[in-house]
Order: sequence, then C-alpha cells, then structure tokens
Amino acid sequence: MNKNITVLKGDGIGPEIVNEAIKVLDKVCEKYSHKFTYTEVDIGGCSIDKYGVPITKEGMEKCKSADSVLLGAVGGPKWDNVDPSIRPEKALLAVRSELGLFANLRPTKLFMQLADSSPLKPSIVGNGIDLMIVRELTGGIYFGKRRTEMLDGEKVATDEMTYSEHEIERIGRVAFETARKRSSRVASVDKANVLDSSRLWRAVMHRLADEYADVEYSDILVDNTAMQLIKNPSQFDVIVTENMFGDILSDEASMLTGSIGMMPSASLSEGTLGMYEPIHGSAPDIAGMDIANPIGTIMSCAMMLRYSFDMPREADAIEAAVNKALDDGYRTADIYKEGFKKVKCSEMGSIIAANI
Ligand code: IPM
Ligand code: MG
Repeated sequence: MNKNITVLKGDGIGPEIVNEAIKVLDKVCEKYSHKFTYTEVDIGGCSIDKYGVPITKEGMEKCKSADSVLLGAVGGPKWDNVDPSIRPEKALLAVRSELGLFANLRPTKLFMQLADSSPLKPSIVGNGIDLMIVRELTGGIYFGKRRTEMLDGEKVATDEMTYSEHEIERIGRVAFETARKRSSRVASVDKANVLDSSRLWRAVMHRLADEYADVEYSDILVDNTAMQLIKNPSQFDVIVTENMFGDILSDEASMLTGSIGMMPSASLSEGTLGMYEPIHGSAPDIAGMDIANPIGTIMSCAMMLRYSFDMPREADAIEAAVNKALDDGYRTADIYKEGFKKVKCSEMGSIIAANI
C-alpha cells in the first residue's frame, strides 16, 4: 500500500527520535512491500524561528491532506517568552483542532523487562499494568474562552471549561468500543461533585453505559483516580476523561511504567486520519546528544499502522521488535541499569529496525 505521512519533527529531541521511527517504518515497507512517502513540515519553535508562526497555513494543509501525521515534540526554553498567541504549543492545539483529532489514546503498559524501573513496589506492579487512557482532546478548558482583564484595580484571568453532549458522547463511544476489544471495563473520570461540565459528562456516560450493557462501567472522581493509580493501577482497563484531567493523569500513569520515554499515543478523528506522537516532551536538556529514547515514537508508529492504515500485522511486528530489543538487554540512558547494554538513540533505532 502507498501512504503519505506528514512528518512534524519539531524541537529538542524531536528530530532525532523521529529519524529512528522512520528507520523502523522504512524497514516495515521493505519487509511488507509498502511505500510510505514522507513530507516534512516545521512545527513549534523551529517554525517560529523561520516563519514567525508555530505552523504555517501550508504546513497545516499538508497535515490535513496526509494519510497520517507523525510528530516528535515541540517547545523549549528558547520560546518560553514569545507571545502566547504564537507559542509552540499553539501549533499542536491547532493541529488537533483543525484535523478534528478528538480522541487521544494513551496506552500505559508496563514492559515486564522494565518492571524494576517502576517507582511502585513489586507487590503492586507484579500483576502488570495495562491500561488505556482515552482523553478528550479538542474540547474543555484547552479550547474554552480565555481572557485577562482589569477588575477593581487588579488583573483577573479566566479560562472556561465547556462541554456539549455530542462532544462527550463521541469520546464516550470511543472508550466503550475500545474497552470491548480489551477487558471490557470503563472508568469515567470527572469532578461531578463540583463542576457542571462534569455533571453533564457523567449523565451522558450513564446513557452510554446503559447502551453498552456488556461493558462494566464505573464513575470515579479525578482526585481519587490520581490516588488509585498509585495504590492499585491494575484495577483499571479503560479510563475516559476530559482534556485537562487526561493530560495530568496520563503523565502520572506513564511514570508507573518507569519511563515516560516508552509511551506512545494516537490522536484520532472520526475518519482514518490520525496523529501519532510519544507522550513525552522535547527534552531540550538532552537535545542533539543522541541519548534520547526513541521507543515512544516507534511504538506510536505501531499505533499509526494499526489505527490509520489498518495494518495490524505490521503493527505487531514493530511491537515485537521493540520487545526483542529489550529482551536482548539493550537500554537507552533513561532505562539503563547496570548489567545491561547501554545504547544511543540511533543505535536503539537500528536495533529495532533490524528486528523487524
Ligand atoms: C500533552 C502535552 C500538551 C497538552 C502540551 C504540550 C500542550 O502536555 O500532549 O500531553 O497539554 O496536551
Ligand atoms: Mg501532557
């Protein structure tokens, strides 16, 4: 099959991890007779430096017309003080919104080879951790009205959190459908004891829970979820939640597995177009040193093949290649322990590609 992938390498370690992911995708093409064509578009700080905006209109069009988008990471201290309207993160939010990527899937899976990197005790992670956070991505406080104004002689800032029934329902359906392919459990996370938007969220989720009667459903408050993720993470299968709660909980969940560098994500639209990216940031402190962990990005490519290209066999091949690299003892610096083989970012990419 021929596929067009728009590649947004971004800032910091973005370019180096994406290069390794492309190495792996190229090997998949060779092995399974596909042809992937890559179109690079600047995003984030590198685009601000060149064009004065974090993504150009033409760049955005190239994302919209692609079969899928592969993203590294955006941002860095160099652009921390630019005008908020052109911050690097603005481009990311614009791509999510303009491509209609409302469903963000963030799997949190403990690689058993790395179980001792988890900050949790073996008695807690021993059963493994395998949960899927389904985060609403194009609504809520991220996209609500915001303003800073003078009131009674002082500055007052406001960010509105808004959700409509249809936005809640469509993300809810993704969660229930995802659960059906997993262990058939959905936990919907909200703050319904305080927020109106959460009370509506809960009401819509309850309607869906009646419809998906075969899926075990529970409501859980976001603060309690933060606690339960540490206390007993294996109780969760699918967690569905609004945009900002999902942002926070997915960082927390990723740490349970020992390294945020391993975790992929998929941002899906109503159609097959999706954007795939690791959940970590641009790590400017180690940029250009060839020591970053490319596995999160490589695993994101596996999600791309599975969700956008309907290539489950090829996706399995990537996941197996990553597992073999870990089984064979290869570790990047972030997951390195004595007795293992420490490799650079580019070496890890080559090893995984060779395993395909
Ligand atoms: C994420 C990131 C982004 C978010 C930032 C960079 C805007 O933290 O993808 O989780 O908050 O969504
Ligand atoms: Mg985040």
